[in-house]
Amino acid sequence: MRHFLNPLDFSVEELSEVLDLAEEIRRDPERFAHVADGKKLATLFYEPSTRTRLSFEAAMLNLGGRTLGFPSSDVSSAAKGESVADTIRVISCYADIAAMRHPKEGAPYVAAQFSGIPVINAGDGGHQHPTQTLTDLLTIRSLKGRLGNMTIGLCGDLKFGRTVHSLINALSRYEGIRFVLISPEVLRVPTYVIQDVLEARQIPYRETTDLEASLPELDILYMTRVQRERFFSEDEYLRLKDSYILDTAKMALAPQDMYVLHPLPRVNEISVEVDKDPRAKYFYQVQCGVYARMALIMTLLGLKRPDKEV
Ligand code: NCD
Repeated sequence: MRHFLNPLDFSVEELSEVLDLAEEIRRDPERFAHVADGKKLATLFYEPSTRTRLSFEAAMLNLGGRTLGFPSSDVSSAAKGESVADTIRVISCYADIAAMRHPKEGAPYVAAQFSGIPVINAGDGGHQHPTQTLTDLLTIRSLKGRLGNMTIGLCGDLKFGRTVHSLINALSRYEGIRFVLISPEVLRVPTYVIQDVLEARQIPYRETTDLEASLPELDILYMTRVQRERFFSEDEYLRLKDSYILDTAKMALAPQDMYVLHPLPRVNEISVEVDKDPRAKYFYQVQCGVYARMALIMTLLGLKRPDKEV
């Protein structure tokens, strides 16, 4: 039995197979409409989420399966003090696969140790968000036709943004990747990511506070929101929340083939006027997320591709 807790749980080849399957699903979703008939996905969300939870549910429904679960910890037995280990043992009797989001780093890893079914990490604190990474890889690959040989700009809250940590981890395994890390001084990428990933793998990177100056050299700009819920002080959040606002004036400085991604929710960091720019791909990215999760569920459940229709 396999879990998906970190993007590195899959080799580059395995990831590429999942992305290929996602593309196949995109081309002909109807063909996959019954591959998970009779299967159940449990969504265990101890932290609020719209996109990720609904994206998992849509993915399972699209495959013909069903879903059950809870959308926040106060409506689950966690409110009565039940441990993650016990909850997952119980859920293993109800469902075939589980997606878990938790405010504490590492909670899905604990769940995986006690689980009788595959566990997917749907975001653990400020740590990792591997299915967003799968989504991001699918989006980048479909827009650029490749995952290597490019300069990726990551902008915003690089300290608490778990999507950023997972994406750096995953992209660092491809040839010719370079990162430009754009953030306020106090929201820089954590040292463990710099040392254990970028330095350890000798990936070229540059840290800067200047978005405008960085734009001309980017192939992808990955914007992120300042993660309010992880701040200790509201004043500090208010001081930092509008550090970067991407608008049409800034987009004019970017190459014609530089695409803008954002894991969403957007707060203020991308002005709505940018939505009309053909390089704005964050809503396209949402659609990719459903195909990526469909492919992941199929892979972890060992579901076979249906025969090609003739
Ligand atoms: C991200 C998350 O939860 O980390 N959202 C998501 O899953 N689409 C990003 C965020 O909350 O800023």
